[in-house]
Parts: sequence; structure tokens; C-alpha cells
Amino acid sequence: MKQPFPLFPPNASSVATEVDLLYLFIAAISAFFVVLVAALVVIFTIKYRRRHEDEVGADIHGSLVAELTWTFIPLVLSLVMFFWGADLAFRLARPPVDSMEIFVVGKQWMWKVQHPDGTREINQMHVPIGRNIRLTMGSEDVIHDYSIPAFRVKMDVVPGKLTTMWFNATTPGTYHLFCAEYCGTKHSGMIGEVIVMEPQDYEAWLAGGTAGPAVPPAQAGEQLFTQNACITCHSGLPGAIGPSLGGVFGSERRLADGRTVLADDNYLRESIMTPLAKVVGGYQPVMPPFQGLVSEEQLMQLMAYIKTLKPAAAAPPQ
Ligand code: CUA
Repeated sequence: MKQPFPLFPPNASSVATEVDLLYLFIAAISAFFVVLVAALVVIFTIKYRRRHEDEVGADIHGSLVAELTWTFIPLVLSLVMFFWGADLAFRLARPPVDSMEIFVVGKQWMWKVQHPDGTREINQMHVPIGRNIRLTMGSEDVIHDYSIPAFRVKMDVVPGKLTTMWFNATTPGTYHLFCAEYCGTKHSGMIGEVIVMEPQDYEAWLAGGTAGPAVPPAQAGEQLFTQNACITCHSGLPGAIGPSLGGVFGSERRLADGRTVLADDNYLRESIMTPLAKVVGGYQPVMPPFQGLVSEEQLMQLMAYIKTLKPAAAAPPQ
């Protein structure tokens, strides 16, 4: 039902209600104390006003009870806000492992979206309900911010790194999509729609297809892996110039300088764009940087392909 004067955006994701409750809790506590303090100022001003010319105020030397009260009540209230907020923030920061991955690239001034089967769209994003969906996001130019108020999620989209966010849509419908970071002249036009559909409608929409056959990102990445001759060094064969990439994603990597790092999205990104930043132990720093040679989209495709490489079948098809 459409409200005549909506105070909140529609509620269409699994976390929306909890985000609203936390927001209302903080707003209610703040409002209560604003009213309390303002009212006491007025009441005390009247009650304790000077009534005679020679009246002198009482000499009060503190009160342990009063000081403990005004210390502990705000302490407890702010700790509730902290732990509640931290719990929610941690859950929002960690996409569930079973999430379906959708790639988002921001550029002045549009949003490019690619689905796991390769289907692309611009300034729209179709998603099925009831599914954990993880967005992996990059920018081709400046800082943008992918914001879906109806899901109560937003995240900066930053050049030079990848960011993620996730949601689980609960209610079919069409919702606003905004860029929430000022990014130039047409920032206000960098908007779109998120279309939440029943799973079978989403499948039908994917099958309906856009222009041309859709190439899944991992498959496009495999082609790039060959075209850019990555396969020459990362052949997975004994004595190869570069380390095998089988099972690399999510693994611990021991570097030449002795550090150990987790091979996450940003590690893969950095290792492609500026490989000398973190050289794996036992290998020479000889890989050329691909910064400027592959676009953000191609980078995501390469990463999608690398994520499919299993440790056992380390050698990609020759
Ligand atoms: Cu992109 Cu504002």
C-alpha cells in the first residue's frame, strides 16, 4: 500500500526491519533526552528563580547518587546501541558463503550490472527473492556509492579496489537505486531500478535475454586468461614461471618477504593490476602490471575464472 506521506522507504530485504528498529531506538532515546533536558531547563529556571534582591543560592557539594545515575544510565544505553549496531554491521559486512555473485561497475554516470550467466543490464538490476545476493563492485573512474534504500544497504564503489555488499530481497516490486556519493555533473542522474522478482520470473527474465548470447563472466575470463597469455606462466605445470592458480581464492599465500596474506578479492585484483606489490614466495618478481590494460569488467571476469580453478585440476585446459 502506498503511504500518502512515507517516512521510510519500502521495506524489502531481510535486514530492513532490524535496521529500522535500531534507527528508531536511537532516535527515540535521543528524543527522550532532548525533551527531558529542555523541560528541566525550563522547570528549574522557573522553580529556582531569584525571588528577593538579597537571595543567595545554596552551596551544594555534589551527590554520589546523582553522579552514578547520570554515568551509568547513559553508559548502559550507549553500550546497547554499540553492541546492537556492531552485531548488525558485522552481519552486513560478511556476505553468506552461499551467495549468488553479481558484478557491478560504476562509471560516470551509469551502473553496469552483470549476472552469473553473463546477462548484462544498465541502470537496472533484476534479482530473485529469497536468495542471498552478493555484489562485487568496482569503479572505472571516481568514487560512487551503490545505494538501495528499500534494502537498507549502501556501499562506496571505489576506483583501485573492490567492495562488496549483500542482501536478501523479500518482497517483489520495483525499488529505487541511487548513486549516494557526489561524482560529478550528472551524479543526480546516476539512478536506476532494482526489480525484485519471484525466482521463476527471474529465470524467465534471464532466459529472455538481452542482445546477443550471454557469456558467463567465468567463461569470458577464461578467454582473457589465454588472450593475455596469463596461461603461459600460470600453467600450473611443475617449474612454471608463475605460481599455480588452482584453489588460490580464499587460500593463505606466503609472500617472498615472509608475510602471509589471505587471497581475497582485493588480493587477486592487486596481483593482476600491480603484481609486484605482493610477490608469492619462491617466485621472481617478473609479472608485468595489467593496470590500464584490462578494464574493471575484464578484471572481474578474470577473477570469476580464477575462482573456478580447483587445486586438483590446477592446469587450465591447454
Ligand atoms: Cu556516481 Cu554519484
